[in-house]
Amino acid sequence: MTRDETLVVSIDGQIVAPERATVSVLDRGFLYGDSVFEVMRAYDRRVFALQEHVDRLMRSAGLVYIEVPVDAARLAAELTAAVQASPYPDTIVRVHVTRGIAPLGLDPTPARGALRVVIVAPVHPPTLEDYRSGIAVTTHRTERAADNTEAAGAKVANYLVSLLALRAARVVGSKEAIIVDGRGRVLEGASSNVFLVKDGVVLTPPVTEGILPGITRSYLLRSAEALGIPLRITTLTRGDLAGADEVFVTSTVREVLPVVVVDAREVSDGKPGPMTRALHRRFREFTGASGPLPWEDHEGSETV
Ligand code: PDD
Repeated sequence: MTRDETLVVSIDGQIVAPERATVSVLDRGFLYGDSVFEVMRAYDRRVFALQEHVDRLMRSAGLVYIEVPVDAARLAAELTAAVQASPYPDTIVRVHVTRGIAPLGLDPTPARGALRVVIVAPVHPPTLEDYRSGIAVTTHRTERAADNTEAAGAKVANYLVSLLALRAARVVGSKEAIIVDGRGRVLEGASSNVFLVKDGVVLTPPVTEGILPGITRSYLLRSAEALGIPLRITTLTRGDLAGADEVFVTSTVREVLPVVVVDAREVSDGKPGPMTRALHRRFREFTGASGPLPWEDHEGSETV
């Protein structure tokens, strides 16, 4: 197998050559999606919001009764070492913790020893065009694996429902699917949180609706406060999206990405709005990232 120079992988805290980075076919993360994960971003080799991400991973593991074999500080040290070992300064860091190996069968109780995997790869944020012009999204009415369960809000690795929603969105030319639950509530993107702006107020759904408490979302809320922009955390519907002045999605990889089309209908004038830009600019101050904002001057990066 050719050596993949772009990846740094560590398994149970040991950096291994990517071509030897394998896990057992009996691992429950492979067999049942029985695992939790995090996606972080390193700007110039510094992982942004490292503690928040590690804390959320530990919370997610707790919600699904996976015992992480190391403490938060050790996990943070292991992923930081993997970031430092990468030849790339700007990377994404995926950390997976599975329930480990057990005798074949669904029962999680015999599992002994969670597995932890860290993958560091060059980041591929959305393109200059995506930021400059905004993207189209498609809403998708569905229920995800953890929705309305005791694991709601955990970043569980079972994304099958969301990835099928994203596939359906991509088929019609959209770049994100917006999940709408059985009660018609707009929850979040397949892998992002969703915001809208209406009459100068920024609105986003509450985490009590079972959405992922996004780290970027939390810094977006802080950005709005820092800019003195009024905020409303409230249930949103498709109609709210259709009637918005601005819509955007947030995630670690995308940061703040303008949405200009929802279900084939333009949002307002079909262009990214000024509040979206101002919030993104303020968000970037939290990351400490240098260089231009992604819509200002971005060497052609690949689509995420
Ligand atoms: N997760 N909601 C869902 C369902 C997500 O998968 C993500 C992103 C978010 C945004 O969370 P954050 O701002 O902490 O990245 C919201 C990672 C990025 C992913 O799956 O790629």
